[in-house]
This record gives sequence, C-alpha cells and structure tokens, in this order.
Amino acid sequence: MAQLYPFNDPVVVETEQPLLIDRGDGIRVRDTDGRSYIDAVSALWCASLGFTPSRLTRVMAEQMGQLAYYHSFLGRAPALTDQLAARLVARMPGMARVFFGTSGSEAVETAAKIVRYYWAARGQGERQRIIARDGAYHGSGQVSAALTGMGYCHTGFSLPLSSVLRTGRPHYKRDAEPGETELAFSKRRARELDALITQEDAGTIAAFIGEPAMGAGGVILPPDGYWSAVQEVLAKHGILLIADEIICGFGRTGQWFGCETWGIHPDLMTVAKQMTASVFPMSAVAMRAEIYEGLKPLAHEVGTFGHGVTYGGHPVGAAVALECLDIYEEMGLPAHVARLGARIAAGLAPLATAPGVLDVRCQGMLAALECETDQQAQAIGAAAVARGVFFRIIGPVVAIAPPYICTEADIDQIMGVLAQAVAVSFAVPADAVQP
Ligand SMILES: Cc1ncc(COP(=O)(O)O)c(C=O)c1O
Repeated sequence: MAQLYPFNDPVVVETEQPLLIDRGDGIRVRDTDGRSYIDAVSALWCASLGFTPSRLTRVMAEQMGQLAYYHSFLGRAPALTDQLAARLVARMPGMARVFFGTSGSEAVETAAKIVRYYWAARGQGERQRIIARDGAYHGSGQVSAALTGMGYCHTGFSLPLSSVLRTGRPHYKRDAEPGETELAFSKRRARELDALITQEDAGTIAAFIGEPAMGAGGVILPPDGYWSAVQEVLAKHGILLIADEIICGFGRTGQWFGCETWGIHPDLMTVAKQMTASVFPMSAVAMRAEIYEGLKPLAHEVGTFGHGVTYGGHPVGAAVALECLDIYEEMGLPAHVARLGARIAAGLAPLATAPGVLDVRCQGMLAALECETDQQAQAIGAAAVARGVFFRIIGPVVAIAPPYICTEADIDQIMGVLAQAVAVSFAVPADAVQP
C-alpha cells in the first residue's frame, strides 16, 4: 500500500483495506471482488451522469484527437474555452466573466484572491478578510481549508487563518432556540452576522462565502428567509457575496443553480463537479461585470492578471463541459431533477416519524435523513452498504444525492434500501449492524 489517502484515518486504512472500485455501469460501481453498489451520493456529489457516460467519453476521445492540451496564458487560449465561457455566463444568473481552474478548492482559492484584488484595485486594499460559516466546506487549499468550518481540516495545518471570520450555520433543527420559528432563527443569524461585521469593522472585510445549501456540513438547507436576511446585511456593509455552487450548481437543487432556488444574487460563483459530471477535473469562478471591470485597471497597471494554473481552461474539459450542458438541456434539467426529487421526498416522508430520526429534508436531488446520534447514522450507512447502496454519512446525517440518470425505479430501490436500513438499525443496537 503506497498511498496516503485523503480524508481517511491512515491507521484504519492500513488495517482495513479501502474498498477498491474497478468498474462502473451507469449509477452502479463494482468492487474488485465483483460486488455491485448503487452510489446514491454520486460519489462526491459529482458524478451526475453516472460512471460510464458514453457521450462524454466519446467527446473526450474526439477532443483528445483534435487538441489534447493547450493553455490560456500570454495571449493564446483554446478556442473551446471561449465557447464554454459564453455558454456559462448565459446560464449563470448575473455573471459576465469566467476564470477556469481544475478543482473546486482551486476555484475557491481563486475567488478569495479575486475579491481581494478587486478591493485593492478600488483603493480599499485593507478589505482582506472573508467571512465563512461553521460547518462550511470550501476545499483543501490553504485559504479554502481555512474557510472550511471543520476542525479536522485545520488541526496540524496552521489553520484557520486570521483573515477568516466565522459565523453560525443555518441549521434550524439543531441550532434554533426553543419556540423560535424558522424566520426568527434566520433573522437571528443575520443579526449575529451584522454584529460580527460591526465589531470587526466592515472596512476590513472583502467578502462572505456560502454554499446555497451546505453539503459536506450535513446537507443543511437554508431556513425561511435566511438568504434574504443575510444579503440585506452584506449589502448594508458593502461586502461581496461569493456563492460556492460546487455541489448545488448544474441542477442539484432543482434549478440550474442553488442561487436561483433561494433567491441569492452573488457577486461571484464557484462551480466544478457537475460542470463536467466529474469525468474531467475542471472548475470555474464566474463574476459579475462590476467585479471584472473593477479589477481590470490594476491588472492593466501591473501588466498582467498574475494568477493562473497550467491546466486551467483545458480543452478536453471544455469539450466535456459543453457536452454536459447539451445533455442537461436535453434532459430538461430543472424539471427532471424536480420530478426525481419529489420521489426522493416521498420516500423520505414516512421515515420522518421513525424513532431516532430528527429530521428529513429534500430539495431537488439533494436530501438527508438526520438521526439523533452519529452512531445511528453509521449503522444505517453500514446496513445500506450490506444491501448494495452507498450513502454518505456525515456525523448524524445520512446524505442522499443520486446521479441525475437514475430512473424512478432506481430511486425507489435507493429509498427502499434506506427504509430497510433505518428499520434494522433502530430495531437492534447500532453496533450490532455490520455490513
Ligand atoms: C461546496 C464545496 N466547495 C469546494 C469543494 C472543493 O472541491 P474539490 O474537492 O474539487 O477541491 C467542495 C468539495 O466537495 C465543495 O463541496
């Protein structure tokens, strides 16, 4: 074994070999012992078209044959990346320009640099700090991990950074005070944000970053009035808003973007994952015209916008992303996701009253069953694996985000396995349920 595996306990993987996957077939993957599993969370919320999307592999091979690589530095660029940028800004609400990268973390690093650059260009270079929320996940780079609100991403890495300010997560079920309505809770979160900004001095704050719905923090859907209250506070203080759409983007919540689902009007958006159905590593930061126009004079004065990566704007990624957009449009993406999402919600509803279940929630094809304890969720995850379905277990949360190519029968199978897993896990002590 020669790997240091990401997000694994190395001592555990040394003794219990990781499950080795060597084949895909639509929404299913197969391990090296020949067992097949439905991945009901699209791997890392990303394989929207499954694990063998033949149209994408064909387009990729064709593009490889035509132009396997080129860069976008120093006055040249792959022609396809311009086509993709135009398609993206036409789709992404309010956006005018796109900067391409390779991973989600890199998109967040870039967005963090762009907001600082923008303020520097506007003569407000002291606006350096970025506000992020508890439980947020924004990636594994230095700044993106600092923005991430999970302790295990900080310990040992000299993180978080002093340039990151932290505010509360919008988890109504866990964090509301007794008797507090959703709206009152949202307003309280906004008041806390306002107080933080006032205390820390708005003139030192560049931006606020948030996932429209939090993914890796436990599928936290914003409560009533949350985003409008937050945006009111940010507007009052002239603070930019970065919407991290790396999970929500391209249909996951039943609209093309999570921003459209929740009435968010960001200054910048980060996207990756479903942009290429994760068949090719590619990400992007999109920005409003004002951000681009604002940073332009400084880049011109310096003589270059001094940021970029070798594989950013890869022509093969661009070909795949363009094909994905075609596929999503042909699918009638928002309506398609809303229809399958309604089936997920229908499967979840009867589980809401099962003993040990704190909450069930679903928006589009992003859903969760939240248990009272972590141990209960782990037992459900193990029972589901034994029945051939992968969910993602996040503390007490069982996360569900299946590929868009699921049939209604696939959704029924996934939800049936979840129901069985809940039944067996809660009927016996959690530690008695083994895959
Ligand atoms: C909301 C969000 N932002 C950023 C990232 C980081 O993306 P990547 O793993 O591609 O670096 C993720 C990854 O899951 C994510 O969910």
